[in-house]
Amino acid sequence: MTILSDNEGYGVQSKDYVKKKNPIIKPENIEYDNTYENSIRPKDFDSYIGQGALKESLKVTLEAAKLREKPLDHMLFYGPPGLGKTTIAGVIASQMGVDIRITSAPALERPRDIIGILMSLKGGEILFIDEIHRLNKVAEEILYPAMEDFTLDMTTGKSQTAKTLRVPLPKFTLIGATTKAGELSSPLRDRFGIIHRLEFYTTDELSQVVQRTANILDIKITESGAKAVAMRSRGTPRIANRLVKRVADFAIVKYDGQIDEKVANESLDILKIDEFGLDTTDRALLNLIIEKYDGGPVGIETIAAALSEDVRTIEDVCEPYLLQAGLLQRTPRGRKVSPEGYRHLGIKMPSEQTKLF
Ligand code: ADE
Repeated sequence: MTILSDNEGYGVQSKDYVKKKNPIIKPENIEYDNTYENSIRPKDFDSYIGQGALKESLKVTLEAAKLREKPLDHMLFYGPPGLGKTTIAGVIASQMGVDIRITSAPALERPRDIIGILMSLKGGEILFIDEIHRLNKVAEEILYPAMEDFTLDMTTGKSQTAKTLRVPLPKFTLIGATTKAGELSSPLRDRFGIIHRLEFYTTDELSQVVQRTANILDIKITESGAKAVAMRSRGTPRIANRLVKRVADFAIVKYDGQIDEKVANESLDILKIDEFGLDTTDRALLNLIIEKYDGGPVGIETIAAALSEDVRTIEDVCEPYLLQAGLLQRTPRGRKVSPEGYRHLGIKMPSEQTKLF
């Protein structure tokens, strides 16, 4: 399977920095590894941890498509960022033995962007579009016949002399990913045969993710060290993978190189990631609502402006976990801090607020 991507992350690693514990990294010893994300991404269902229900149903879908010798139905994965939507698409491609083209809706601004990609697809290939809720109307309308009949309807000429040309496309599978399924237009949503929500991971699942990543990156970690990192990872493997690398830095520089429970907890305290996995921004958000707006409700625009963050970051990155952890509540009149949120920050909830819960 080849991954052709225009939105991959990158990593910078020293080849033998960890092994030699050499504090000076010379430029020639730095490896710019732009496939870093790929190296820790699981390639098959066995190494993909969590999302049990999704995996089981996908295994059946894939098997059926293979037996029928038909392309897979178009799929839509939704849920908070970092839960493995791109990763599961990569697993599907690899299990089907087909290539995957990875792009995201903001990169498909002009009609020619989406037309170009569709025309370059080969039979059976997977087209992955991230943030698919951000597709513009024109791109969506090009996609409808492409998804339904594997054709591209192109108009040539102007007004009276305009002609529509139907160009056949190879049978491909579209996998869309979004953090906001509700913002997808219903005609687009209706064209996906499989729609699945990705769930937050349990601490146990995240501990396995942490151990697997540590293994691949040659980081020494104990079981309780992995659990301590997992507990502060907000149910999100992308965060777990980020934290394990940050904690590994502390383990090498300040300790004996191994991540155990103490190393993990002390390092994460220094990084200001608390026992719930909340970072400075999350706590600032809760504090703001409590101190400036009596615990809420307060509108998202007001919160974003006061924190100098954009609304999308608050909605997509901070809120999903705060809501899931029960620290924040969304009401028709805005956001409110829950009794649990007050407790977490060690602030006493005013009695008039308590009555409202
Ligand atoms: N890395 C990121 N997501 C993962 C997952 N679900 N399983 C294993 N490793 C991962």
